[in-house]
Amino acid sequence: MSDGEEATNHLLDGTLHESQASVQAAEGGLQSESARLPVTIGATVPTGFEQTAADEVREKLGSACRISKDRGKIYFDISVESLAQVHSLRSVDNLFVVVQEFKDYQFKSTKEEVLKDFEDLAGKLSWSDPLKVWEMNSSFKKKKTKRKKINQNSNKGKTDNGQGDKKDERDVKKELTGSASETQILDYYENPAIREEISTLVGDDLASCKDEADERSKEEADASVLRFRVTCNRAGEKHCFTSNEAARDFGGAVQEHFKWKADMTSFDVEVLLNIHDNEVLVGIALTEESLHRRNITHFGPTTLRSTLAYGMLRLCAPQPTDIIIDPMCGTGAIPIEGATEWSNCFHIAGDNNALAVNRAANNIASLLTKSQIKEGSPSWGLPIDTVQWDICSLPLRTGSVDIIVTDMPFGKRMGSKKRNWNLYPACLREMSRVCRPGTGRAVLLTQDKKCFTKALSGMGHVWRKVHTVWVNIGGLHAAVYLLKRTPQAFVHPSEQDGERGTPWCE
Ligand SMILES: C[S@@+](CC[C@H](N)C(=O)[O-])C[C@H]1O[C@@H](n2cnc3c(N)ncnc32)[C@H](O)[C@@H]1O
Repeated sequence: MSDGEEATNHLLDGTLHESQASVQAAEGGLQSESARLPVTIGATVPTGFEQTAADEVREKLGSACRISKDRGKIYFDISVESLAQVHSLRSVDNLFVVVQEFKDYQFKSTKEEVLKDFEDLAGKLSWSDPLKVWEMNSSFKKKKTKRKKINQNSNKGKTDNGQGDKKDERDVKKELTGSASETQILDYYENPAIREEISTLVGDDLASCKDEADERSKEEADASVLRFRVTCNRAGEKHCFTSNEAARDFGGAVQEHFKWKADMTSFDVEVLLNIHDNEVLVGIALTEESLHRRNITHFGPTTLRSTLAYGMLRLCAPQPTDIIIDPMCGTGAIPIEGATEWSNCFHIAGDNNALAVNRAANNIASLLTKSQIKEGSPSWGLPIDTVQWDICSLPLRTGSVDIIVTDMPFGKRMGSKKRNWNLYPACLREMSRVCRPGTGRAVLLTQDKKCFTKALSGMGHVWRKVHTVWVNIGGLHAAVYLLKRTPQAFVHPSEQDGERGTPWCE
């Protein structure tokens, strides 16, 4: 019996379904032999935050990470008993188990030969252990949440991964896959660093809509057969084939090998074929929905991913009792992530837009309700408050804040580049007033780097730039600046002139 057949039989005979897996876990957990199964996990992370994610993995799982050349990915080894902890990581978007990795794959010279090799590969891989991991993972995997098609901000169909660059979801999907019904693809590859060709195809080009409907009803009659799809993600100049062709031919061979059913939209197993220059990796997805989808239920026009919010917070190493503010909080993605992860600090979420403050308050309320339902008892609440304020004149005492983490208007979707020329210097000045001299720090995200750099250049006496992380926010090249507050006391400019004015910006 081949490795693949053995794995399939094992799956079909045994604990295929989530409910069964949960019962198994409750009845004494995973078999000790299986629990020790070594496994290589791959994770997609916000670009630029690979090192932050590696630090989190080392801290929480004790595993060293390898950061991929292909930006936005990390790899680490665990034993399978740590799978639940892997799903609790805050810096990772999607997870997969590595079936096999080829660091220097030798592509043949013609397309036909390359595609034939992909077909042959399906039968040669050691699927058995990764499939066991996939099976055990089902009890930890969060189910995909159904999102409303229409949202109140006329952001209908927009992706929510960044600022100012939202494409219509349908266009993105068309661009990526040529299929208008493939919502899952965005989840996996919302990560804009992975701007390469992506195709999800299964078997042949067999699945016409009509055939799919016929297939579905047959499958319902035979629920024991696993459904699968292959997603190919290809980047590199020198390939003589498309991701579409690779997914089709590799997918066809996987189908033949396992006798699984192909299904693009409703599948049990998602096989990943990642090709980056001459590196090829085959994996099995362990997340159905990106792990950044947490905390937020009331979205705004530029809601930040929770994984990116976590990375920004982590950059300034919050300490117990720190006062942490996001003075331009929008929906509150940063302070809410902060309050859930650093609950020994106090977080303040402020914005000058009443709608934004309202959304942030609603997000906090939803989170509290969720945790009350989960725990079955009233919650003590979260260490967070919301307030409507203007960043240019904050109702906070001078030197009273330890950390400022904020995502500034890029001047595209939010605000304007012209307004930033006044706003940015005013922000930096008022932030320098409230931030504690000597120990205070700020982590600021912006795409308007020119304006930011100019504003900062006049403030070297109060802010010192210690680090810049380059990130890709929905295709925009943005920067996260880590600033340290110098020990110099804040002097109000009007005091320097011998008079006291109030607002900093018009
Ligand atoms: C890029 S958005 C923040 C998005 C937020 N991180 C989220 O996840 O929703 C910038 C925010 O700055 C706010 N803002 C702009 N000018 C402001 C000011 N003078 N004072 C306070 N907030 C301001 C906007 O209302 C907007 O919500």
